[in-house]
Amino acid sequence: MKKSCFLLAAVVTCVAMLTISCKSSDKTMSAADATLQTIMQRKSVRSYTSEPIPDEVMDKLLHAAVAAPSGMDVRPWHIVVMTDKSQYDKLFAGNFNMPKFKQAAAVVIFCADTTVTRTPRGNPNGPAVTSPNSIWRDDMGACTENFLLAAEAYGLGAVWTACYPFHDRMDPVKEYLKLPGNIVPYSIVPVGYPGGNEKPKDKWDPSRIHYNRW
Ligand SMILES: Cc1cc2nc3c(=O)[nH]c(=O)nc-3n(C[C@H](O)[C@H](O)[C@H](O)COP(=O)(O)O)c2cc1C
Repeated sequence: MKKSCFLLAAVVTCVAMLTISCKSSDKTMSAADATLQTIMQRKSVRSYTSEPIPDEVMDKLLHAAVAAPSGMDVRPWHIVVMTDKSQYDKLFAGNFNMPKFKQAAAVVIFCADTTVTRTPRGNPNGPAVTSPNSIWRDDMGACTENFLLAAEAYGLGAVWTACYPFHDRMDPVKEYLKLPGNIVPYSIVPVGYPGGNEKPKDKWDPSRIHYNRW
């Protein structure tokens, strides 16, 4: 009797452990699927409802944006969040989609510090030196994309609009925001709850994938 009780307990423990391990692997799978789904569902959204974005949601999107990787971990971004619609037209000079963007609950301007201030390599106690940062554009692309993906994950619609390197787009923003000389407006992202039904594009093209050789 004692032996069979012990065996039963052992079987129950094994089943419980297996169930837990299955559950945790299911969990891992579904987290991966959810992430991939967000990436694959992202699309440019250019029409929005009038519903405002809750502050806590915008806060999540901004946290996602600045979680981006950056060369030498310089983190060149400064982000300006505009919600005053009466000022939007000052930000979109030269963008043919301007009338659509006017409806957006927020317009987020991703700016870059094009310089980096740090102590010289090999001399961590030396005086900090300011020099040009040659790879800030890459960092800003990662930052903008992170924001777009987070917006998708929260059911928001957004679109990356070019600012840098077009002077007709950058200059009005620089002037309106009174940006310091080392700060460049890189991208402008209108964001809001989608007003239409935009679908993601299927961009998969096997001829663009190369294994081991061109
Ligand atoms: C660097 C960059 C600049 C862009 N500039 C604009 C723009 O000025 N206006 C606009 O409406 N869309 C702009 N877009 C959005 C693209 O048109 C859009 O990403 C592309 O058509 C692919 O569609 P999808 O985002 O729905 O996948 C830009 C996208 C990128 C990455």
